[in-house]
Formats: sequence, structure tokens, C-alpha cells
Amino acid sequence: MFDSKFIFGCSTASYQIEGSIDKDGKVPSIWDTFTKNKKNIADGTDGSIACDSYIKYKDDVKILSELGVKAYRFSIAWCRVIDNNNNPNQKGLDYYINLCKELKNYNIRPFVTLYHWDMPEWLEDLGGFLNDSISDYFMHYTDVVTKALDGLVSDYITINEPQVIMQLGHRDCAHAPGVKFSDKEMLHAIHNLLKCHGKAVKVIRKNVKNSTVGFAPCSRPLVPVDKSDKVLYQKCYDYFFELRNDYYYPNMVAIYSDPVFLGDYPKNYYEVFKGIHPEITKEDLELISQPLDYIYQNFYSGNYIRLNKDNNIEFEDFYPGFPEGNIEWLQVVPETLYYGPKYLYERYKKPIIISENGFCNNDVISLDGKVHDPERTDYIKRYLIELDKVSKEVPVLGYFYWSLFDNFEWSYGLKKRFGLVYMNYKTGERIKKDSFFEYKKIIENGGI
Ligand code: NOJ
Repeated sequence: MFDSKFIFGCSTASYQIEGSIDKDGKVPSIWDTFTKNKKNIADGTDGSIACDSYIKYKDDVKILSELGVKAYRFSIAWCRVIDNNNNPNQKGLDYYINLCKELKNYNIRPFVTLYHWDMPEWLEDLGGFLNDSISDYFMHYTDVVTKALDGLVSDYITINEPQVIMQLGHRDCAHAPGVKFSDKEMLHAIHNLLKCHGKAVKVIRKNVKNSTVGFAPCSRPLVPVDKSDKVLYQKCYDYFFELRNDYYYPNMVAIYSDPVFLGDYPKNYYEVFKGIHPEITKEDLELISQPLDYIYQNFYSGNYIRLNKDNNIEFEDFYPGFPEGNIEWLQVVPETLYYGPKYLYERYKKPIIISENGFCNNDVISLDGKVHDPERTDYIKRYLIELDKVSKEVPVLGYFYWSLFDNFEWSYGLKKRFGLVYMNYKTGERIKKDSFFEYKKIIENGGI
């Protein structure tokens, strides 16, 4: 059981649920552009309607209240609240003001993510994260949002999954904007992104009373198969935080979280990227590392690890039939929620909030008109048992299920379903899945 203050919530993101991509002065985002090329999305769909939450937000908040969550994490679309001339768009702001007021009516605490990947296209055209002024634009946007939501929101998350922004957006090019960076550009862009975070923290602290701030990276923890082996534990920990100069360095943990929480890039960064990393000043590092309240983290899956005969770590294979979600990267590794928080707390020493955790299932509407998804309930329970366990060792303050609804799953489109609520995209009907009622019970009981 979690203590009575534990925050049970769920998460969504603007482009994935809102639709109404050109209403009320919203300007195009990089995802509006990216999805125009049908080949970029597995099922050729886009987020132009998605869950239609821009229109149906009152219904959505009612569903949240029925679920019994104390908190709702959603993101603001930069391109909805700032126009092409970098001026505030009041109509767009009104949407979020109304959403927050509605949440307040039901006593649900908003956790606002400022950047969940939908950069205004006009800013991308000016260079996106490679533009050295991007952090000033982000600071201005943060100022506009925090002032508009004054008195309604005090919990902010600056940036969601920087790893995915860089690895998928600028290396694999499976995500918008799909612009490939050289290593030099990548390191430069990562540094600019961290400065966006830093400048936003500054503004939030200035504008918001009793603010809490964090950023929400993602990671895939290493889980020792032999839980009592201390050498193995240490090797898993070291590997988790190690910065390696391979294809996946933009997807690693410490390149973002070390500067943010420890005040500098990992020690070997300067060696490994000698001659290609940007100039990094003391002022930059101070800006980036202002104190945060929480370590947010998105966790879905992990890898089991053993030691080989030379005492080096080896990844266990996922055997055929290993329990997994309906998306290739989501193996069911519940200890992710034990080891992940443990590693992060050991290094960064702040309370942990799980900002996302969820299961993708091949959900169908049954003959009885309901959606039976025992695999999702099983996933949530297994993961929460591990989180409960670690919460006795390190401070864990909350858990946000991803996601409230099925929604637009980026390059996979609308076919991949993570929701507690089934979305009939044809009719807009929302059907609560079995897992919705199971999660509700868990919340009521304060745990499993
Ligand atoms: C992480 C992302 O933040 C979210 O947008 C995405 O839908 C989920 N993972 C599931 O892939």
C-alpha cells in the first residue's frame, strides 16, 4: 500500500488527443507537417481529430473524475497558444484555462507539460533546437503560459522525453521533424534543449507561487537476474548511467540528467566528444542545473541482465512467448519500477514521480459491447507491486498511467492502444475498458 498522499494520476499529450489542428488560431506544428506525408505513419493516420479533446474536454474531465485520479498530466501545444509572430493567442490559452477550471471543479490537480514534441513549424523553419535563440522563444512561451494559468497550475514539467526528441526526431527520423543531425549538430541541439529547460525553470519559479518543477526523461532500466548479486547490481547501475559514444547516445540517461541534476555533463563527455561538442559555459551549466523538486521518469520496459563468465554484463534474450505489449519495444519487465527509481534516487537524490507507465494492447470491443483487457490490468498490478516495494526504500510520490485514452501513437498512428478508455475514432465514442475499473479500485484501495 502507498501512503495516503500518494498521487495516482494519468497522462496524455496535446497532439495525441486534441484534434482541432487549425481551430481558433492554432498554427501548424512539426507533427502537422510530418503526418502530411502518409508514409511517415504506419497506418497513414494523423492527429487531426484524434480523441477530439479540444471539443470534448468537459466529457474527458468527467471521465477522469469517475476514474478517481487525484492528478492529470497533460501537455500544452505551443503552437496553439503562440502565433506565427510569437504573440500570445488568447483563444488557444482559453482552452487550457477552461480545462484547468474544469479540473479544479472536480478537485483534480493539473500537472502541465510544456513541451511534448509539437514544436511550432515556424520555429522549426528557423532551425528548431539548432537555433541558439530557441531557449528564448521557449522562455517567452513559458512566461505566457504560466501567467495565463496563474492560480490554476503550480506543477510544471518542462520537457517530455528529450531522448525521443533527439533520437527519433533527429537520428532515426521516425518522428517529426525527421531532420537528421550530424554529431556536432546533435550535441549542440541537446545543449540548446537543456537551456530551454533551464530558462523555463527560471520563469516558472518567478511567476508561479508554490511551484514544483521537473523534466520527464525516459529510460529502460537494467534488471539484474540475480537480485542478491551486489557486483551485478553495481554493473547494471554503471551501465544505466554510462555515456557511450555509439549510435544511441542521444537516447541515454546521463547526457540529459547529469547536467540537470548534477550540474555538468558526465565526466567522459568532454573526452568522448572532444572537438565536436559545443562551447559549454559555467553560466549555461548553472542555468541548466537549477534545483528541481522531483525526478520525473517515463518507464515502460527494461532488460534482464546477467554476468557472463568474464564477469561482464550480458542482456538476457526475450524468448518467444515472453509477455509483451502489442508494440515491439514493450516487454513486460515489472522490476523496471523497482530498479529504475532506485538507480535514479541513488544518483540524483530527489523524490521520484512516475510520469508515464502503460501497456499497449490489441483491444477489441467484445460481443457484450465491452472491452476486456486483462493483460493491461495484469501489467499495471505487476508494475505497481514493484513500485510499492521500492517506495519503502526511496521516496516515490506518484504514478501516472499512460494513457487515459487510446490516442495517436506517433509514427504508429491510431492503431496502437494504450488507454484505460477505448476510443472509437469513427464515432468519437469513449468506452471504459475493464482496466479502467481495475485502476479505479487500485486508487480507492491506495494500492494493490
Ligand atoms: C512516451 C511518450 O511520452 C508518449 O507520448 C507515448 O505515447 C508513450 N511513450 C507510449 O509510446
